[in-house]
Amino acid sequence: MRARIPRELHPDQVGLDRHGLRRPDRTRTPLSRGASMRTGIIGTGRIGTVLARILVAAGHHVVLANARGPQTLGPLVAELGAAASAAHPAEAAAQAELLVLMVPFERVRGLLPPRVVQDKVLVDATNAFGGPGAPADLGGRGSSDLVAEWYPDAQVVKSLNTMHFETLAVAGTAPGERLAHFTAGDDVKAKEIVAGIITDLGFAPVDTGPLHSGGILQQPGGPLFNRPLTEAQALAWISH
Ligand SMILES: NC(=O)c1ccc[n+]([C@@H]2O[C@H](COP(=O)([O-])OP(=O)(O)OC[C@H]3O[C@@H](n4cnc5c(N)ncnc54)[C@H](OP(=O)(O)O)[C@@H]3O)[C@@H](O)[C@H]2O)c1
Repeated sequence: MRARIPRELHPDQVGLDRHGLRRPDRTRTPLSRGASMRTGIIGTGRIGTVLARILVAAGHHVVLANARGPQTLGPLVAELGAAASAAHPAEAAAQAELLVLMVPFERVRGLLPPRVVQDKVLVDATNAFGGPGAPADLGGRGSSDLVAEWYPDAQVVKSLNTMHFETLAVAGTAPGERLAHFTAGDDVKAKEIVAGIITDLGFAPVDTGPLHSGGILQQPGGPLFNRPLTEAQALAWISH
């Protein structure tokens, strides 16, 4: 059976040969370090919906929030089953142990009361664009630096922002070498938690360093943005 090759992904990177046929599978051992965590996903558009689906498929619980209200999330919650629920953003943030921001970057400031994310891991998966495909001019600052400024008591980790949603949907369960997801942040424990979830999803976590310097590598205009790399390629790139 031929498998579909997602956009922006070379067949070799999802375990397909150049004809789109699956190569033999390999064994993966999920660490499940984050499996008992309830993840809040704020933003359930293209990328947020995909993340919800693959987290639930990996055995995680999710609480979802969007701009239009939880009543609009009924079909997605029904599709995902008992592991999913919907709430308003601040409620979702309060219920979740870990939060992922998947809204337009311009919506992040003021999105949540800072006290609800106090001491929580806040994964910033947003990207700041100044125009179609062009990075925003942030005067040399990282967009996640700003997120950390707006939510000073959260443990901000920039992650899950570099991969196209169509790739995220399929690449974690495809045979072959794992693709990398990057983590940038100043709190080592928070990065480990995010790395556990990345592993559960079938990807390889690769640490890019502190929030500022690592975040700049990962954001639009940076060398790791929208560039699917295998774990080996990513590690080689980081260490060179
Ligand atoms: N698309 C990708 O492949 C991809 C990959 C990596 C990272 N990202 C980043 O992820 C973010 C979302 O991208 P997307 O493509 O998924 O966008 P999208 O399809 O337009 O979805 C945006 C989501 O954000 C929600 N939202 C907007 N304002 C909100 C608010 N004030 N409170 C709560 N929810 C709000 C929207 O709610 P409604 O549904 O109610 O309108 C929608 O669910 C962007 O920052 C993007 O750069 C995208």
